Amino acid sequence: MRAGITGTGSFVPEKVLTNHDIEKMVDTSDEWIIERTGIRERRIAEDGINTSDLAVEAAKRALDRACLRARDIDLIIVATVTGDMPLPSTACFVQKKLKAKKAAAFDINAACSGFTFGLSVANAYIKSCMAKRVLLIGAETLSRITDWEDRSTCVLLGDGAGAVVVEPSDNDSGIWSVDIFTDGSIWNLLNVPAGGSAFPASEETVKNRMHFLKMKGNETFKIAVRTLEKAVVDTLKKNRISASDVSLLVPHQANLRIIQATAKRLNMNMDKVVVNVDRYGNTSAASIPIALDEACRQGRIRKGDFILLESFGGGLTWSSALIKW
Ligand code: ACO
Repeated sequence: MRAGITGTGSFVPEKVLTNHDIEKMVDTSDEWIIERTGIRERRIAEDGINTSDLAVEAAKRALDRACLRARDIDLIIVATVTGDMPLPSTACFVQKKLKAKKAAAFDINAACSGFTFGLSVANAYIKSCMAKRVLLIGAETLSRITDWEDRSTCVLLGDGAGAVVVEPSDNDSGIWSVDIFTDGSIWNLLNVPAGGSAFPASEETVKNRMHFLKMKGNETFKIAVRTLEKAVVDTLKKNRISASDVSLLVPHQANLRIIQATAKRLNMNMDKVVVNVDRYGNTSAASIPIALDEACRQGRIRKGDFILLESFGGGLTWSSALIKW
């Protein structure tokens, strides 16, 4: 038995922050941001809107698509690095707001790879018959951990949420493989230093801006290109299909140049690649499910299509998944 995606949904806040807006905040330019990242604008959640609020809107749309009600769900998984609070999990708030009373709920943190890591968990729950209907959500309010004085990171990040419903599938469609990888030895390339047990919140951590995301962008970039190329090639080999059999590549949206490098390695034309980094920037765990949902709604995914997902993020973590729709 395989697990398959039976519904997708996404939600982004209305407020748009353009590159020109950021030009007024730090020493950068629209040209630099577009040339180095492909990003033109990103969405920002208004004050008082939490990660769980974005997650709930995306979840409702995915449930609609799957023709299910919240009370049908057995398990809610929220992938996020920007939960509403350190405790309880954001999934608990989502469960409450959706009134999904039957569902157990927990968060996972694998940074930008959170959605695909969550997909591997949902896959395992379904295949082992521990759950029949899983709601998997990637949701972030990265604007809350963005250092708006650091031009090397603040141009990259945005807010949003994407969700999928995962259920048993009755033929050869569904998740063919989902492979997840971690290298904790290079955690220092991308992190939020304070707010945990290593550096609990203090006057000093606030003063030293340690609650904001830090990234060694260029080193991360090089490792991302190398690792993703290998991950997608290995996934295709393992499933004995070639890149030409893949209808659509749905990559994590961190940087257009990283996306293009993976597509080039697979010899894939960019019209077979979902790109929305120009409109949303990097929304971390929300990025793949938002892109997947947009592709579904635009009619770019048909039954029987092979869809390849790939992600890369803090940890470091990376992954690759193959789905037959
Ligand atoms: N505007 C203008 N100049 C800038 C900006 C900016 N916003 N940011 C940096 N620069 C400058 C730097 O200071 C540097 O100047 P210098 O040469 O005088 O020192 C120059 O531009 C080049 O900087 P690099 O960091 O080498 O630029 P690069 O081409 O690598 O692009 C970027 C930076 C966009 C961050 C890129 O490295 C990248 O996308 N990295 C990977 C991001 C990623 O995939 N992260 C993982 C997922 S994120 C997550 O898990 C939450």
